[in-house]
Amino acid sequence: MIIAQISDTHIALDTPDAGQRLSDFAITMADINTLDPTPDVIVHTGDIVHNGRADEYAEAVAILDAAQAPVYVLAGNKDDRANLRAAFAKRGYLAPDGRFIDYTVEDYPVRLIAVDTQSSVSNKGDFCPERARRLVDAIDAEATRPIAVFAHHPPFEVPVGPDPINFEEVEAMERLRRTLQHSGRVIGVFSGHVHRATGGWVGTIPARVAPSIATTLRKGEYPAHMKSRPVYYIHRFDPAWGFATEARIVGAAQTARAA
Ligand SMILES: [Fe+2]
Repeated sequence: MIIAQISDTHIALDTPDAGQRLSDFAITMADINTLDPTPDVIVHTGDIVHNGRADEYAEAVAILDAAQAPVYVLAGNKDDRANLRAAFAKRGYLAPDGRFIDYTVEDYPVRLIAVDTQSSVSNKGDFCPERARRLVDAIDAEATRPIAVFAHHPPFEVPVGPDPINFEEVEAMERLRRTLQHSGRVIGVFSGHVHRATGGWVGTIPARVAPSIATTLRKGEYPAHMKSRPVYYIHRFDPAWGFATEARIVGAAQTARAA
């Protein structure tokens, strides 16, 4: 099973780099379509748009519609739950209403669980007792297959970020960490938000953070020739070893052919 993970496209229509953000997103989706073998599924780990606006979601949906694999999306801190639900309603996997955007995908050897870490008070994450109960229920709904969890905010300390803790309250992050370890069946946690390629642990569960697809917002040092090349992740699942994560540089194949 192969999962392509993209994150933090931050589509905006009225910033100086709006065109670059649209281009970064579009060339990433085109690159994913060239993968051989093709991924089974594509997951966008949130901050799809920058201002939560319906017209921004319309642009994002138009770009995602080009994907050959099924696409699932999460709500980041910049997303608007209601506008996100409306924009992706036709895909059929989001509940039409409710407080949180969390769901499971049961079509693959690894179950996928999307977690909602949006806070009502800041750009940092939240994970309240109600969400913990919902995650426990989702984990316990099936007892045989391994689980990959997707959450916009990384549930571990990221020392290289501007603030190592990406949750409003440390207790909320600890609640998410405990819940992820509740069954022993979660084998990978995949996040975004910090716009930087990094990783950590939730107990013994490996956790990966994808950099922002928006190259103008990406953190970390990249050589000049990569400035306008988005980076996304390919997570390949092996039953014996779990997930092996590869960072994919958009445009690398074309450059190699031209050389
Ligand atoms: Fe974010």
